[in-house]
Formats: sequence, C-alpha cells, structure tokens
Amino acid sequence: MADTLTRPPAGAVVGMGQRHDSAHLHVTGQARYIDDEPELPGLLHLAFGTSTKARAQIVAIDLAAVRAAPGVVAVYTAADIPGANDVSPVAGDDRLLAQDEVVWLGQPVFLVAATSRRAARQAARLGKITYAAQEPILTVEQARTQHSLIEPPQRMARGDAAAALTAAPHRLAGQLAMGGQDHFYLEGQIALARPLEDGQVHVLSSTQHPSEVQHLVAHLLGRSSADVTVEVRRMGGAFGGKESQAALYAAAAALVVHHTGRPAKFRADRDDDMVQTGKRHDFVVDYEVGFDGEGQIEGLQLRLASRCGATVDLSPAINDRAMFHADNCYFLPAVEIVSERLKTNMVSATAFRGFGGPQGMLAIERVMDAVAGHLGRDPLAVRVANLYGPGRDVTPYGMVVADNIAPDLIARLRAEAGYDERQAAIARFNAESPILKKGLALTPVKFGISFTTTHLNQAGALLHVYADGSIQINHGGTEMGQGLYTKVAQVVAQAFGVGLDTVRITATRTDKVPNTSATAASSGADLNGMAALDAAQTIRGRLAEFCARTFGGAAQDVVFADGQVSAGGETIPWPVLCRRAHMARISLSSTGFYATPDLHYDRAAHQGQPFYYFAYGAALVEVVIDTLTGEHRVLAADILHDCGRSLNPAIDKGQIEGGFIQGQGWLTSEELVWNDEGALLTHAPSTYKIPTANDRPDRLTVALWDGANHRPTIHRSKAVGEPPFMLANAVFSALGAAIAACNPATGWPTLDAPATPERILTALARQRGAAS
Ligand code: MTE
Ligand code: MOS
Repeated sequence: MADTLTRPPAGAVVGMGQRHDSAHLHVTGQARYIDDEPELPGLLHLAFGTSTKARAQIVAIDLAAVRAAPGVVAVYTAADIPGANDVSPVAGDDRLLAQDEVVWLGQPVFLVAATSRRAARQAARLGKITYAAQEPILTVEQARTQHSLIEPPQRMARGDAAAALTAAPHRLAGQLAMGGQDHFYLEGQIALARPLEDGQVHVLSSTQHPSEVQHLVAHLLGRSSADVTVEVRRMGGAFGGKESQAALYAAAAALVVHHTGRPAKFRADRDDDMVQTGKRHDFVVDYEVGFDGEGQIEGLQLRLASRCGATVDLSPAINDRAMFHADNCYFLPAVEIVSERLKTNMVSATAFRGFGGPQGMLAIERVMDAVAGHLGRDPLAVRVANLYGPGRDVTPYGMVVADNIAPDLIARLRAEAGYDERQAAIARFNAESPILKKGLALTPVKFGISFTTTHLNQAGALLHVYADGSIQINHGGTEMGQGLYTKVAQVVAQAFGVGLDTVRITATRTDKVPNTSATAASSGADLNGMAALDAAQTIRGRLAEFCARTFGGAAQDVVFADGQVSAGGETIPWPVLCRRAHMARISLSSTGFYATPDLHYDRAAHQGQPFYYFAYGAALVEVVIDTLTGEHRVLAADILHDCGRSLNPAIDKGQIEGGFIQGQGWLTSEELVWNDEGALLTHAPSTYKIPTANDRPDRLTVALWDGANHRPTIHRSKAVGEPPFMLANAVFSALGAAIAACNPATGWPTLDAPATPERILTALARQRGAAS
C-alpha cells in the first residue's frame, strides 16, 4: 500500500491515498480530545447517581449524604431541570434524570457536581432511593407475552409468501439468535460545557450529532438554539454510539453550567459508560423458507425480533434498516418480513455501525447456509443461484437494484482468492483431521446508502479563502477517525487546484453550519463533500470571473491547477490571485449546500426508494476450529470491496479493515450478559472481549473494486463507513462450515452469535449427536 501513501502532485488530490489529516497527531499523542483541553478555573466534575432497579416507581430520594460528601458543590434531580427533561433523538422519551419511575437498571436518577471526578463518583454512591419495584421485562419471551413494544410490528412483503412456501419442493424452518455489541470507542463519552455571557452556553461534546445536542441542551435549559453552541473537533471513535447517546452527558454538563455559572466536565468512567449508554440491538430471527432443488428461494417468511430497551431512541429506523437488508444481494420472489420492536427494561439499544443492517443481513446469510446444508450443495452455489439479476431485480421494498455489481464482484473474488481450489483442499484436510476442522465461506454485502428518513439527507458547508491563499473548510460532518475531514479537504483542494496542505480543516461547530444531520449512515463524505464542493464552486466562479475581467478570456476557460491560475494567457500563483481578488473586493467566503435527489419512501407501506445507491463487497474467509475446546482462528480473509471511485484508497482500506475486524468481534467474542434483575454484567474489558491484534486474520488482504458509482456522487465515490462491517458475516458462515464438516449429514449447524467457544462446543455436540 506504500505507493498510495505518497503525496501526489497537486491537481490529483482526490483519488490518491492521502494520510489522515491528524495521523501525525494521533500517533504522537498530540491530537486534542475534549479531556485534553486546558481546564478552566472553577471547573466542576460530574457523576450520575443511578438506579439499582430495572423497573420501579421512585417512592423517595434522600440525597443528604450526597450533599454532605467531601468536594460536592451541587446535586440535582429532575425537579431542577428548567426546560424539557428529555435527551432523546426523536420520541421525547429519554429522561436526563429519572422522573417518578425508573425503566432500566443503571438509569441516571440524580447528578452530582463536585470539585474532582473522584469526589463526584464517590458521592454519587451515597444516594438513598426508595423504590416500589415491579417485575422487569427483560427477555424476548416476556416482552412478547406482555405485548411490550416500542411501536407496532412492521411488515414488508411481496407476493404470497405462505403460498409460495407450501408450493415449494423443499421447505425448511430455523432460528438464529445474535447478540448486541458495545461500541467500545477508545475515547469514552465526554462533554465540557462553559458559560458564555447572558446565559449562553458553549459545549464541547464528543458527538456525531452536534445540532441535536445543541437542540436538546437548549430545550432542556428552556432557551433557544441560538443561545447554545456545540463544537467537536474529533471523537476518539464513535461507531454510532455517539449519535444519540452523547446528549446525555452534554445535557448534564450544560445543566450544571446553567445553575452554577461554572464550567463543568462530564467524563464517563468506562464501566459507567458501558452501563449507561445504548448498544447494538440483539435479535432473534425465525425463518421459514421454500426452495427448489438448486436452492433457489421461492418463498420466505422472516420474523425479526429485537430488544430495543426501555425507550424508542433510534430503534424504528434501525429495525427498518434490518428489514431493508434482509434481502442482501438476493432476489426474494415471494417474501414476508415481520419486524417486532420489543420494549424491555434495559438501556435503550441504539445505533451501531450498520444500524440494523448487519442483523438483517446475517439472517438471510443463515438462510442461504441452511438451504445449502439441507441440499448438500456448496453454499456459494446456492448464493449465486439467488443473486439479483435481469428480471429479478426488485427489492422487497420495491426499489430496483439498478447497479447490481454483486455477480461480477463475487466472481472476481472467487477466482482471484481461489475459492474452488481452497474448498477442495479444505475437504481433504477435514477428511484427515479428526480434531481440527476448517471452514471456508464467501459472503457478499449490498448496503443501501442514504438515511432512510429522507429529510436527513442534507448537508451544509462554510468555506473561507483568506487573502494569503490559505483555505478553511467547515461542514456539518464530524470526524470520528473515519477520515471524513481529510476527504472533504481533498475535494476542496482539488476544486481550487491547490495542494492539500493549503486547506485547514476546522472543528465542527453549530455556529458555523446550522441544522446539520448526524454524521451517520456512512453518508458523511457523500453529503458534506458535495456541500463543500458547492461552496468551492461558488468562490471559484467569482474568481474565474475576476480573472476573465482582469486578464481577458472567458470565465469558463480559467484553469485552476498546480497551485496556479491561468487565464487569458497569464498564469499567476494562487496566493497572488487571492490577494488581488481581495483588493478588488471580491467575496472569498461562501456557504454550500447539498440535498440527495431521487429519494422517497412510504413508511406505512414500506415501499419506495429509500437509498440513492448500494455499496457492495464480498469476503472470502477461512477458519479453523478446535473441536475439543471450541476455540477458533481466522486463518485468512480476502476482501474485495466497492468504494466506487475511491476518494482516498488509503483511508478506505483502513475503513474496510477496521469494519471487518469490528464485525468479527461482534460475531465471535463480544458477548453482553445481563442478569435476571436486568444488570449488565459485562461492563469492562475484563468481561467483554473486543478483538485484539492477535485476533486479526493471519492473512488479511483488501482489494478495491474499481468502478465508478453509477450515481453522480462526489467524484463518483461510494460511502464506505459501515458496509465493510458486514463482510465479517463470512467469518460466521465459515465457522458454521467447519462445524458442519464434523457431520455434514446433519445439515447446517444451529449456531448463534457470538460464536464463543461455548457456543461452538454446543453446536458441535448437537451436530454430532443428531447423527447417533
Ligand atoms: N471509523 C472510525 N475510525 N471510527 C468510527 O467511529 N464509525 C462508523 C464508520 N467508520 C467510525 C468509523 C460509522 S457507524 C459510520 S456511520 C461512519 O463511519 C460515519 O462516517 P462517514 O459517514 O463519514 O463514513
Ligand atoms: Mo453509524 S451506526 O450510522 O453512526
């Protein structure tokens, strides 16, 4: 990859492997995160006192001991909130501090402000809360029997799935459970608020959604959005966990500023963070599928049930996205997908890379494997038989798959990574190896790009060109390590024909670009890159006209390249042009705006065109399991991924590798365990295992599919943030194949995710037992 990292000549800034703009700061510890900001005099540190019951009425709160504790300056309850007690993204049902009742164990009930973080945390434990407890709703079964739902079940369907099932030559039913996932961002949740004059507040928040934090803080304080400024330079990872969850801490800090007039910082402790903030939704999937002798699906009924936790949060859209991805790359002629959104007394589940897509996609991949296992066919042959193709190109939600590169992409990976040869070699290995068993799987990804809530697909930018030729770009997108700032800066540099080092990227601020959407749905570069380009074109247009007036020729013939501007036979350096334009009183500042075209969706019918396009990929993964211990190793992963015409291959490869490994963690080692009272037991790295360097596949190759986006996206690139996460589905399928190899006659194993050693051993026992 070294070649792509070298600095390209100016003029070819886009499409080159530029390093992350903060890479040198990340690796030398100089990148500033919120906790690195100098602390202002009088700074208060915060902690929540939290509920010890999952479901209860609050009878009494006694905070005398908390108030008397050393270092404590103030203690607040819901009664101290001047405006709305709400930190929710959509539904208005997330309390900053519990009011009358608690709905999950660990829910914030009161807020302590103290002179040190330690003092705040210790005092927070001294609260005495009297509860009238009720039986919590925790499991899928409990929620189902009590009809505990965050919204009515949703149904997406085409044709008569039940009739197609009955008519099909083969029929199969099964269940798959998959766990949730903690985000485990390196930088935990944090906010630092300080008072400005006249009741205004400035908030540094580690958030993917500065505008929402601004809005919620204003509402909470009973002020207007104009009184609140939210700023974020970067997050130390977010992964969806700071899309809605950051508001809790920002609102707490702002509340303390409001009452005390002192600056306040809330840096959540890791254990508290894991308990207090939402995670990926766990799912239970039931399927019934009818198919022909080749494994081609004729009818499918899917029930997707997820535990959404105690409040709505983003669960409707997340579960919708699970439905949207339950087809993946496969045509389902007659299909019924029913989605149950269960309300449970747990911390509200939230956005996590893929936003429900991984859960829906894993479901259909299991169906493919189960069909193959039933027929004794190669799983890839079954997958290929079911791919979208001519005459079979409409999704269950009525959108035409107009850019279906999956068949070609799969064929290329199959050939280049040697699927068939390796499958034969593994069969030979398994025949001679009684203890170690290998498995191979190739699974594809098709991921819809756009917010499925149509109005969110908009972005703004603010671009300044200074008289010395240097450029500042600001936009609504946030940087969480994914390289968005770098990509947008590339777009701007290219527009003016200058080098990337001419462009200074500045922190995202609600007072620079207003009313922004979350940086989410992988659409950061698609939206903000276009908005920035719009702003750049405005300024370039003014400069071109100025050049034409000054040097002659037509404005459209002015060339911006290599740090110079040429017009009417003259060529001058970019900084000289900027200075002269300024002297001539040309405005060198502009906003820019973009809204994704061609989107519409009828949520009542679950029909329409929710996505602008699809991003594709495929992974070929080889694993080995130890049938005595249930442990496994990922031996090799070969990935072919579609970034359209990549804006930055170096950063895109980083996203692909990171997404894959994070997906691997979700499906193999990251296990969330709650006890019968609703307490999360796995709230630290000692009990919750994310993948480490040691879990990385022994061989991991990433190649980019080099085709342009068929849509006119920013430089014809494609979004890359989330789709690669689902490449890890191949790990899960490969594990299934290795287990199946112990006794293929049983068909495909019933393996749930994450595939911990315990689950693999259980699946092995079942696989073998069924034969005897
Ligand atoms: N990459 C890094 N390094 N850190 C992150 O937190 N979040 C992911 C993805 N890649 C994330 C990341 C998620 S959930 C999304 S939606 C996208 O980045 C958001 O950024 P983008 O829209 O600019 O791709
Ligand atoms: Mo990503 S889950 O859309 O923040």
